[in-house]
Amino acid sequence: MSDDIYREIILDHYRNPRNKGRLTDPDVTIHDSNPLCGDEIDMHLKVEEDKIKDIKFEGRGCAISQASASMLTEMVLNKPLSMVKNLAKEDILENIGLTNLGPARIKCALLSLKVLKMSMVKYYTDKDPKSAGDFRDEAVKY
Ligand code: FES
Repeated sequence: MSDDIYREIILDHYRNPRNKGRLTDPDVTIHDSNPLCGDEIDMHLKVEEDKIKDIKFEGRGCAISQASASMLTEMVLNKPLSMVKNLAKEDILENIGLTNLGPARIKCALLSLKVLKMSMVKYYTDKDPKSAGDFRDEAVKY
C-alpha cells in the first residue's frame, strides 16, 4: 500500500478511534505520556484466561499517537498475553504502515505500546514478578 493510503487509515483511526473510552471494571488501568510533548494515553484492560478480554483507551495528542493506540487495541483484543509480550516496535510501525518516520514520530507511534507493556507490568506485579520484570524491560525501550 502507498503512504497515502496509510495516511488515510491513520486519519480514519484518529477521527473515529476504535475501542475508545473506559471499562467499568478493569483489571488494570495505567496512564503515561510522552515527556517530549505531553501527549497522553490511558489504557484499561480486562484479562481472562491469559487473554485480553477487553481493552479501551483514552488519550489526547497527535494523530499518530492516537491512531496507533486505536490500531493497537484492535490488534490485541482477544489475543493471549504472550502475543502482547512478543509485540515489538517493528510490529507497530508495520501496522501503522509509515516507513519513513523520524525519531520523534516513532516515539508518537510507540507511546501506546509502552503503555500496554506497562499495563502488563502492573497486571503481573503481584501474580508473577518474573513476567512483570520481562514486561518492564520491554516497556523501558519505548
Ligand atoms: Fe506527542 Fe506525537 S506529538 S505523541
